[in-house]
Amino acid sequence: MICSGRSGQTLSERCGVEAILLVGGKGTRLRPLTISTPKPLLPTAGVPFLAHQLARASAAGVTRIVFATSYRSEMFEAAFGTEAYGLELVYVDERRPLGTGGAIRNAAQALVSKPDDPVLVLNGDILSGHSIPDQVQTHLESEAAVTLHLTEVDDPSRFGVVPTAPDGRVTAFLEKTNNPMTNRINAGSYVFRREVIDTIPFNEVVSVERETFPGLIASGETVMGFVDAHYWLDVGTPSAFVRGSCDLVTGLLESPALPGKPGPMLALEGANVSPRAVVTAGTVVGCDATIEAGSTVSGSVLFDEAVVAKGAWVRNSVLGRGARVASGAMLDGAILGDGAVVGPGNELGDGLRLWPGIELPPTAVRFSSDV
Ligand code: GTP
Repeated sequence: MICSGRSGQTLSERCGVEAILLVGGKGTRLRPLTISTPKPLLPTAGVPFLAHQLARASAAGVTRIVFATSYRSEMFEAAFGTEAYGLELVYVDERRPLGTGGAIRNAAQALVSKPDDPVLVLNGDILSGHSIPDQVQTHLESEAAVTLHLTEVDDPSRFGVVPTAPDGRVTAFLEKTNNPMTNRINAGSYVFRREVIDTIPFNEVVSVERETFPGLIASGETVMGFVDAHYWLDVGTPSAFVRGSCDLVTGLLESPALPGKPGPMLALEGANVSPRAVVTAGTVVGCDATIEAGSTVSGSVLFDEAVVAKGAWVRNSVLGRGARVASGAMLDGAILGDGAVVGPGNELGDGLRLWPGIELPPTAVRFSSDV
């Protein structure tokens, strides 16, 4: 998707958009997967999660991205270098995590945009099909200080909500309640007028959601809402991470970075999937990973070298690098850290997590296969 504005130019030709990518969080909700790899670099539909965001941003006309790093900062440049997907990539590290606002202010040191230019800011854990060009267009037309992508969710009581006036201006940021006044929430993609970023205190811990945006509204600045209800997912929890990967594999969300065609499963180089296994619902099978005969694997993420032995049953789960599920074991909504082993006969239900290298010994086998 190369966007064209009213003049028929791409975004980059029209306004030279650069972006800040927030990737410094510790990803605690995704432990143990994030012990060795930051959340934005976890293998997702065959590539590091961020690859999908970078490819989409590039296709939308973004030309330059400043990574705001903190947790395991060195791993980002090692993964993407200084150029990827046609984007120039720059890395700015925080000595201590500065929160979302502090991170944006810190990364702004590396921006080349002029004071009036729009700067896109993306949370590094969001999968979104929304139109970045349309968000920038809304921002420019409304001459806003900041324009936020707002998405609509079925159950807003799980989120803080963002009400807007009839003209689209954001009127407040409301904390979670059982009875929210709108189903619109902050979707984690912002367009700032560059000079507004420069007003965020430097080298201080600041939250854009709790401090910067409410502060702008209180001082009478225009904070616009850009409502777009295309595909949207925050992959911060294990179940959402698995869903995001599967949605990319099946093509529910198109990604230029998907290493293959969309379909019911994606097998990476060296993967060994038995023709007598059932592998469905967007499962990704990592490099040199194995799924043996008679097993069923649905809606799951197998990192490189993971193994599902014959007759095992795995659903909505993540198997870390080299993790192994033995014959007759069952996993449903479980997370296995790198090298973890589930011995025969074990059943791991929703939310169970096995730390890297932990081995569950065999238990009474309730399910077996003769294959
Ligand atoms: P949890 O610990 O599981 O809540 O995940 P998280 O650490 O990623 O936090 P959260 O999901 O709230 O963060 C939203 C986005 O902001 C993610 O892309 C984070 O990487 C990023 N982020 C959060 N805090 C910081 C920070 O202090 N510095 C930087 N550079 N990025 C941050």
